[in-house]
Formats: sequence, structure tokens, C-alpha cells
Amino acid sequence: MARITAGVGSSHIPLLGVASDMDRTGEDYWRDCFAGFDWTKRWETAQKPDVVILVYNDHASAFDMRIIPTFAIGCGERFKPADEGWGPRQVPDVEGHPDLAWHLAQCLILDEFDMTIINEMDVDHGLTVPLSMMFGKPDVWPVKVVPLAVNVVTYPPPTGNRCWKLGEAIARAVESFPDDLNVQIWGTGGMSHQLQGPRAGLINREWDTRFLDDLTADPERLRMIEHIEYLRETGSEGIEMVMWLIMRGALGPEVRELHRHYHVPASNTAVGHIVLEKST
Ligand SMILES: [Fe+2]
Repeated sequence: MARITAGVGSSHIPLLGVASDMDRTGEDYWRDCFAGFDWTKRWETAQKPDVVILVYNDHASAFDMRIIPTFAIGCGERFKPADEGWGPRQVPDVEGHPDLAWHLAQCLILDEFDMTIINEMDVDHGLTVPLSMMFGKPDVWPVKVVPLAVNVVTYPPPTGNRCWKLGEAIARAVESFPDDLNVQIWGTGGMSHQLQGPRAGLINREWDTRFLDDLTADPERLRMIEHIEYLRETGSEGIEMVMWLIMRGALGPEVRELHRHYHVPASNTAVGHIVLEKST
């Protein structure tokens, strides 16, 4: 039987991908930022997950104003890195897990989550940067990936509570998949950041820290954070953190924090990262 064993939260800032791709992670600006992921790289090597359900958002690469799915699941065999304006990242193609993805799509839709099924799409930094942070620069990604894209770009994004419930439904669906798979779920995006306007560069360390604390201490509070609070406290792009709640909802009521990293700045963004183990 397949099982979700752990959850990972991580920012997916494009500049992290640039630093990795250009071998600049040892430079003064980047050293401490990347060092916070070293523990996780070792842990992932030991964990050997078979599949990652990777919750991310597309940034006008696969979707644009013509189509905006709230929740979309990638059921294809393979996903290529998207060209985001400077050519595709020189990272491996992402290998999907169509059998698990179709099983998830079926279970989730019958569980009343109206997933958009995607058989063909390119994946942008939202998905490939977390892979780089967790696995470095391998020739082939060591896991299969089920991409799960969430609209956090165009209002209205889903509520945190809806995301949490989707996570719970994902956990039920994984547990009914007959193959013996070690599945992780990753929530990406955030933390506090605003990319444009008078408040560009906004960072709210206190709010971010409390969010990370409450993934274990008080997750019920996180479910009920309203969109306006994300906007006010964490900037216009901080709403990406609702995607972490899909990850957290999938882990069940009790989790153990294994690792945490918080670093400012990376471009004009706070980098957040956490590893949570499901309590049995
Ligand atoms: Fe993003």
C-alpha cells in the first residue's frame, strides 16, 4: 500500500534556481541560504521517496489568463522545464507517475474536489526549484513527481481551509493506492514577499516564524487565516503559503518537526523551509 511518510515546505524563489544552475551557491550571498538545505539533502538520500506529490503554482508558464484552474493535477509521463523567458532551466525532465496521478484524480474528483486533469504541460521554477533545493544537481531526478498546481496568482485563490481539506483527501487517496510506495508531499511558495508596488520587498519575519511554529503547534489556526491577512502581513505573494496547508493537511493531526531553515534575503524574498514527519 502507498503511504505518505513526510511533508516538506519550501520557498521556490526563481533566483535559487539561477544560483544552483550557475554554481554560485558557495558565494557569500548564497552560502548560508543553501546551507540550510544540506540537512534535507542528506535526509532525502536516506528516505529514498518513490514519489513526491509536489504542490506548487504555475507563474504564467503553462497557464495564462485564458485558463486558470484552481487545482490541477499532472497525469502525464513526463514534464519538461518551462521556458520562463531565458530558456528552460538546464535541469532534468520531471518524470511523472501516471498511475498514481490518475488514481489521485479519480479519488479526489469522486471525493468532490474538482481537479483539472493535465496530460501535457511544462513545469516552471515553482516545481523545479524545490527539486534543486532538495536534491542538488543530479543527472536524473531521484523521484517521480505528481505535479499539483494551485491558482494563487489570480484572485480568488482557494482558502487555506479548502487547501487543508484537499490535503486530507490526498492522504485518503494515497492510502487506497495498492502499490507499495513511499510518498512525500511538498508544499511550496512563500514565505512573506511582495514583488511589486510601494510595499515591494516586504518581509515579515515574525509572521513567518509563527506560521512555521504553528505547522506543529497550532495548525488549526493556520487553516482559518483569511486571504486579507496574508495580503496585509506577508505581501501580495505571501498567499502562496496556502499551498503549504495542502501538505500539512495530508499529514494528519500529529506531526514532528525534523528540520527548519529561515533565511533573509534571497532576492527580495524570505526563504522558508521545513521538514515534517508524520506521527504514527
Ligand atoms: Fe511562486
